[in-house]
Amino acid sequence: MRAVAVNEFGGDPKVVDVAKPTPGRDELLVEVAAAAVNPFDWKVADGMLATSMEHTFPLVLGMDFAGTVVDRGADAAQFSVGDRVFGSVLRAPVGAVGAYAEFLTVPAAGLVASAAGLDPAQAAALPTAAGTALGLLEAGGIRADQTILLVGAAGGVGTFVTQLAAARDARVLAVTRGVGAAGMGALGAAKTYDATGGIVVDRVRSDYPDGVDALVDLVSDATDFAAYARLIRDGGVALSTQFVADPQELAGRGVEAINHNQRSTAELYDRLADELRAHRITVPIEARLPLTDAAGAIARSRLGGARGKTVILP
Ligand SMILES: NC(=O)c1ccc[n+]([C@@H]2O[C@H](COP(=O)([O-])OP(=O)(O)OC[C@H]3O[C@@H](n4cnc5c(N)ncnc54)[C@H](OP(=O)(O)O)[C@@H]3O)[C@@H](O)[C@H]2O)c1
Repeated sequence: MRAVAVNEFGGDPKVVDVAKPTPGRDELLVEVAAAAVNPFDWKVADGMLATSMEHTFPLVLGMDFAGTVVDRGADAAQFSVGDRVFGSVLRAPVGAVGAYAEFLTVPAAGLVASAAGLDPAQAAALPTAAGTALGLLEAGGIRADQTILLVGAAGGVGTFVTQLAAARDARVLAVTRGVGAAGMGALGAAKTYDATGGIVVDRVRSDYPDGVDALVDLVSDATDFAAYARLIRDGGVALSTQFVADPQELAGRGVEAINHNQRSTAELYDRLADELRAHRITVPIEARLPLTDAAGAIARSRLGGARGKTVILP
């Protein structure tokens, strides 16, 4: 079957022929209809997990998928052949299966949920991006009427944080680079700040002199994060997906610092699918590309500039 893989850490992704995987007793064989591009995909290809997990080469890229169950092991009774599913694959040896492929195997009791009634491209976009968005809001205890400063709002995770927070009646102040109030407002942002010329602390402080209740920062380094965190009122919460929040520095003001490491479950995926079916969230899809364009999609993700989700259609 065709897949997109690298032959070494840091190598160029290429379309390769690899053996179609065979499902183990507890696994599903899924014919992939769509795979989502996440920055995590190229970070893994660069060796982010090299010291923590076993890898194999060619290392097939991609985690988040949607597709149809075409075979299953004897103990994989949670789903039947013909079921439409979506989910995420990451297990040792990393690269033996991946989402940028025509087929993948995944434990039936793992990170898989029903995609019945969903567009596969939209379902594939949910696991990492929307899952992390929901995880951040729950970890931060975000409630109605709170004001959230969201940095990196126009990308995969940020577009879902915006929608899910607005659905909780929280006020989202979206920090983007080059995406204006019309685009973010359509997703539910109350206000949009363009940080193209540098971070926007002074403008936010002048608009919200009492500070914000929460910072959800998806992109900043430690310096910029610390500057944005000064906007949080005493007793608020600061979340980073870049592991740059400094609990000691923030504790003095009673601000809780959370370096968020998303741990998803199939139940969380079910909840996201329900949100999508009920039209409480939409999936902003920036591009739908064939497998042959996956290398270009990875290169563009590295460069930045994401506006919602890019999806590969094998
Ligand atoms: N810790 C975890 O569990 C976890 C989970 C999921 C994701 N992540 C990480 O979180 C990050 C975001 O993920 P993602 O999927 O949303 O990435 P993405 O789709 O690439 O989106 C990132 C967005 O942030 C914007 N951006 C970058 N720098 C900015 C700045 N200084 N100010 C304002 N906006 C800025 C980008 O646009 P421009 O490039 O045009 O500025 C882009 O719109 C990635 O590093 C990812 O690996 C971590």
